Amino acid sequence: MARVSRFLALMGVLGAASARVNVSSSSVKVSWIGDSPAQNLGTTFGLPWPQGKYQPNDVDFKLSDGQTPLESWVTGYWRDGSIKWSAHAIPKTDKVADEYTIEATPVLKGRSRGRRRTTKLSVKDGGKEVTVDTGKVTIVFPKDGRSIVRSIKTAGGKTVGKDGKLVLYSQNKIPGTAQDRAKTEVGQSNFESNIEGVTVSKTNSVRALVTVRGKHKRTGGSDHADWLPFVLRFYLYAGSDAIRLVHSITFDGKQDKDFISGLGIQFQVPLKGEQLYNRHVRLAGTDGGFLNEAVKGITGLRRDPGAAVRTAQVAGKALPAESTWDSRVTTRLQWIPVWNDYSLSQLSPDGFTLKKRTEAGRSWVNIPGGTRSGGLAYLGGATQGGLAIALRDFWKRYPTGLDIENAGSDEGQITLWLYSPDAAPLDLRGYHDGLGLDTYEKQLDALEITYEDYEKGFDTPYGIARTNEIFLYAFDSTPSSDTLAQLNGHAQQPPVLVAKPEYIKETKALGSYWALPDTSNAAKAKIESRLDFLVKHYQNEVEARRWYGFLDHGDIMHTYDSDRHQWRYDIGGYAWDNSELSPDLFLWQYFLRTGSADVYRFVEALTRHTGEVDSYHLGDWKGLGTRHGVKHWADSAKQARISQPQYRKYFFYLSGGDERTGELLEHTLDADKTYGILDPVRKVRTDGWKPSPGAPVTFGLGTDWAALAAGWLIEWERRGPRWEEAKKKLTGTATGIARLKNGFVTGSGSYIIENGTLQPPPTDPDNKGIVAISHLNAVFGMPEVISELLEYWGDAAPAGFRDAWLDYTYYYAGTADEQRARYGASFSGVSLKQAHSRLSAFYAAARGNATVAARAWADYYRGDGLKDTQQFTTEHVGGSAVVHPVDEAAWLSTNDFAQYGLASIQNLAYVGDSIA
Ligand SMILES: *[C@@H]1O[C@H](CO)[C@@H](O)[C@H](O)[C@H]1NC(C)=O
Ligand SMILES: *[C@@H]1O[C@H](CO)[C@@H](O)[C@H](O)[C@H]1NC(C)=O
Ligand SMILES: *[C@@H]1O[C@H](CO)[C@@H](O)[C@H](O)[C@H]1NC(C)=O
Repeated sequence: MARVSRFLALMGVLGAASARVNVSSSSVKVSWIGDSPAQNLGTTFGLPWPQGKYQPNDVDFKLSDGQTPLESWVTGYWRDGSIKWSAHAIPKTDKVADEYTIEATPVLKGRSRGRRRTTKLSVKDGGKEVTVDTGKVTIVFPKDGRSIVRSIKTAGGKTVGKDGKLVLYSQNKIPGTAQDRAKTEVGQSNFESNIEGVTVSKTNSVRALVTVRGKHKRTGGSDHADWLPFVLRFYLYAGSDAIRLVHSITFDGKQDKDFISGLGIQFQVPLKGEQLYNRHVRLAGTDGGFLNEAVKGITGLRRDPGAAVRTAQVAGKALPAESTWDSRVTTRLQWIPVWNDYSLSQLSPDGFTLKKRTEAGRSWVNIPGGTRSGGLAYLGGATQGGLAIALRDFWKRYPTGLDIENAGSDEGQITLWLYSPDAAPLDLRGYHDGLGLDTYEKQLDALEITYEDYEKGFDTPYGIARTNEIFLYAFDSTPSSDTLAQLNGHAQQPPVLVAKPEYIKETKALGSYWALPDTSNAAKAKIESRLDFLVKHYQNEVEARRWYGFLDHGDIMHTYDSDRHQWRYDIGGYAWDNSELSPDLFLWQYFLRTGSADVYRFVEALTRHTGEVDSYHLGDWKGLGTRHGVKHWADSAKQARISQPQYRKYFFYLSGGDERTGELLEHTLDADKTYGILDPVRKVRTDGWKPSPGAPVTFGLGTDWAALAAGWLIEWERRGPRWEEAKKKLTGTATGIARLKNGFVTGSGSYIIENGTLQPPPTDPDNKGIVAISHLNAVFGMPEVISELLEYWGDAAPAGFRDAWLDYTYYYAGTADEQRARYGASFSGVSLKQAHSRLSAFYAAARGNATVAARAWADYYRGDGLKDTQQFTTEHVGGSAVVHPVDEAAWLSTNDFAQYGLASIQNLAYVGDSIA
């Protein structure tokens, strides 16, 4: 269509009036997940497009309301270069529409693009600093030194934040017991941010992105090198006084010497000239509540200054002139203490404490606390304005904190603690002493009992990361606490715009393996209600089991212990799930089908966790993830399947190319190099092969190749800096698989890293044909990756590749006779048949084969996994059997949760019509 109209335009058929002719423009609606937010402070979202519809240079995007400016860029391309994913930013708007319509208009050759709506956003990239003015707030980012932000100034000209810094405390030991403290000399060090580089986005019509990189540098205490590298991404939207900060750190210390005992971000708040009684402290309590205090309180005194004075102070307004107060108060103001410091500590997900003091060296006075703080602090004055800072998921990421200091002096200080200094230090050491597991033989034997795959030296956190989302708000005067509560609603659940499931599906930009929920017949309706049950149950479990914490938040657990009515949080490979069998994929596909807001938040937190904490971002294992375990990084299986980029893909594109996630995707591009250093199957290898950097390596065609292929495909789609290398490796290895006599059934291949090709495995150099499958091959994203890849390639897929995959999808669940007839041997190790029913479904749809469709449903209903006869219900357990009452589903494991979910979704999409 677009092509036709361009042709007509060139022929001059479209005259001057053609701009109004609706021949080829198309529009797509996006709406907020959940209820429309009370306010829009500026947001970014992603939008998929069908292949061939728009070429990047031939289309203009705008919003149909004709008013709201839109900044647009491309985040993904189809193979033919047409747009696969666009990203769009809208500025802060006074009104919030329930939905927005994005109009894509072909740019007619020889005509200039429509005039863009401009905004007041301005970005100056100077030699020493970057200055961004949103029209509401001006922020200066120095390019070197300690301060990540030099100043935050309101449109009214008031500087409300200065000298922003990251702060880090660490110690080199943790005394074993409280008694040991007396005899343990602990070296303590303090650090601050030290900038190594600042970059700023190139196009900034609606949104500016300033990226600050550096390390924490010692400022005092025991000697210590610079460490804990950080990346700070500041997102600034036209017309907005809110600043969104995505804060990422990577742990590059030693687990037995570097214990983080405080990690925060700190700003100075100028208060000079503000009367002490006009200075206000606000700390978020529970459910939109606030602690509302003045640095010098004039309420509750023995003498009353007058109702107007009291009311004004509580409301955060400037007090009337002192001459209007009762003089019995004004003559005695000097006797009222000044509360310099306030502190809120959220050391557990169940409670926070509050306290204040007049100054350091004096006793704290307790303030009644509560359960779950909203995680926002404000410091400022009625006339001079102030600054608020908030942490998303504050209590879920305990131990966290909010500190106000020096509120009575010329410059107050506000600190948000991502890791509270009041908590015990972050202890990343192993949880056991190695248990004498000093040979592979013993380690494999231990796997038989605790399911933990231990190996000395592998339980290292070196290279894990964590990302937090912080919001800053600038004010010309102390805002009402209702306003702060509203802003904090925004910080806790940043509004998300997304296209309708129908539209996303139609574009095929996230594959064709899912369809919309359909309850038109009883069998389908039953599956839908079961999927809903599963997702709801895990959401409930997060709360019931308190799956929260600085590193843990977002993850779920692997297997249940029905005897203890408890997840096996302490049993080796059964504890944290680390994406085992792809719950990430199930939850994202569930979201794609339903558009459910709470599922989006749930799986976003999971994605943020698994992509950061369960994977390595530095060192020899960069790009690999860690197998499930009691600590997220403790297991010795470091594998590409766990950092599978497909797990990040949905969030990356839907969010409009979240830059941190994009960076994590880049980290996985080096995963292929790790095979030359670390052999994933070293403990069971019998052929004596040893890895050597740059030399050919043997890797699995299931979990290994699927993870590498996903990363290569995404890089190709993004046309990232390494896309040609990625495309070459993808094409080279897929060609190699197609040329193997037994294709995917060969099980492994020899990967030549220097030219990105794949040869037969060393055990079969002449390609005579090996038969080696694994039940795990297809449960870490391979079906999703290959089906997206086949659609991406279309006719250009390497010869035989599609057939190789179709063979795998047919024969995995084929009879032993069929397998023998085709490969000369039957398969051993076939299990997870319910999970694999979706491979049969794929085959049936591709070949139009009703017999195989029926086989898919038979395996789905009667294979291993969750039986059709299973009642999807929970049982209430209370009393002394449990710490607190729970509703348990003892029959459910996370493997089944994930794979039943994926099989259901994909069988319905491929062969839903032939459901029995
Ligand atoms: C433009 O065309 C689309 C579909 O072809 C139609 O839905 C839409 O209403 C048209 N818009 C106008 C302004 O005519
Ligand atoms: C890649 O390298 C291998 C080993 O050196 C070689 O056998 C093969 O022919 C090369 N393939 C290509 C396409 O260059
Ligand atoms: C479907 O697959 C079965 C099993 O391989 C085969 O016997 C049958 O001929 C196929 N049917 C069609 C229509 O291709």
